[in-house]
Amino acid sequence: MQTVPIQFDAFNTLADKEAQVRIDAARAQLGKRAVLLCHHYQRADVYRHADITGDSLKLSRLASQSDAEYIVFCGVHFMAEVADILSRPEQIAILPDLAAGCSMADMASLAKVERCWRELSAVLDPDEKVTPVTYINSAADLKAFCGEHGGIVCTSSNAPKILEWSFARREKVLFFPDQHLGRWSGHKMGIPHDQMVIWNPDLEMGGLTAEQIRNAKIILWHGYCSVHQMFQPSQIAKFRAQYPEGKVISHPECCFEVCEQSDAIGSTETIIRVVKESAPGTRWLVGTELNLVDRLADEVKHEGKIVQFMAGTVCMCSTMQRIDPQHLAWTLENLVAGNVVNQITVPEHEAKLAKIALERMLDAS
Ligand code: 13P
Ligand code: SF4
Repeated sequence: MQTVPIQFDAFNTLADKEAQVRIDAARAQLGKRAVLLCHHYQRADVYRHADITGDSLKLSRLASQSDAEYIVFCGVHFMAEVADILSRPEQIAILPDLAAGCSMADMASLAKVERCWRELSAVLDPDEKVTPVTYINSAADLKAFCGEHGGIVCTSSNAPKILEWSFARREKVLFFPDQHLGRWSGHKMGIPHDQMVIWNPDLEMGGLTAEQIRNAKIILWHGYCSVHQMFQPSQIAKFRAQYPEGKVISHPECCFEVCEQSDAIGSTETIIRVVKESAPGTRWLVGTELNLVDRLADEVKHEGKIVQFMAGTVCMCSTMQRIDPQHLAWTLENLVAGNVVNQITVPEHEAKLAKIALERMLDAS
């Protein structure tokens, strides 16, 4: 049954409470035909509807294992693309608001990465010497680039393992788009910092000399997450002065100094697990997105654990925040009416190459 899609305008002014009731009603009608995948940064009024929650690695694994006809991804654009690539051809990946992107993913484009590859070839043969590694927070065409050039995808929970995979094949790595995850993972492998250079895509030869490129082990793309760059070592110092017994845990998208001064580093899934497994009464300072931290604080408070947010200001992933109850209700009611809205489709050729890079990652981790 295909009808004219219901327009979003009618949902724009829908009260939150009413949106919740309509989401529940649509879900009841769709039953197992739709699965709702939610990233940990998702706002509480959407997260409560999740069938499956997780970090990027867990969600990409589970997207490929679901039997549902519709995979409704409450996350950001690259996550829905991964769901489309890894799911079966007849399954449909949907992003309730197409404006839910990732500002870090946008910091690397195929044109700029191809230019980088061309410029590197003036110094060395990149297809022989350099493994391209893209953080999962990137567009599908960059994953395809990695698939085509002997490269691989990584997430925040497997990056050091993926670097080992990469160095077993070629002597250098080009890591994009997140410099911080690349630097921290390289540091954990014992790579000296002067062998990790920054490639600035807006400068000729990335702003590097031929000698710097020849000496480098990791060429780090000049990208970062605008949420995680808000966390600063001074916030950790203040917390430690006030609570010397307190613990600090951060996401590896934080800058090097924050990672270095934290007691533990991990993906969103790891942060949740470590805090939940800690002893009752532990006090934590957490350097990752606010929705996750607030939810975690609430979930562990009955054990006397105190979870504090690292930054002094409110910092959410504003793009993920765009998936609100109104967009979710609109998406699901359209599915009930037989209309698919906001389908994410990666072109076939691109999906095939991107899948190679994603499967290399899933096999290696
Ligand atoms: P995780 O893989 O840890 O969930 O991180 C994804 C992300 O976008 C963090 O900013
Ligand atoms: Fe992208 Fe940062 Fe949002 Fe993660 S928190 S999805 S890296 S903008």
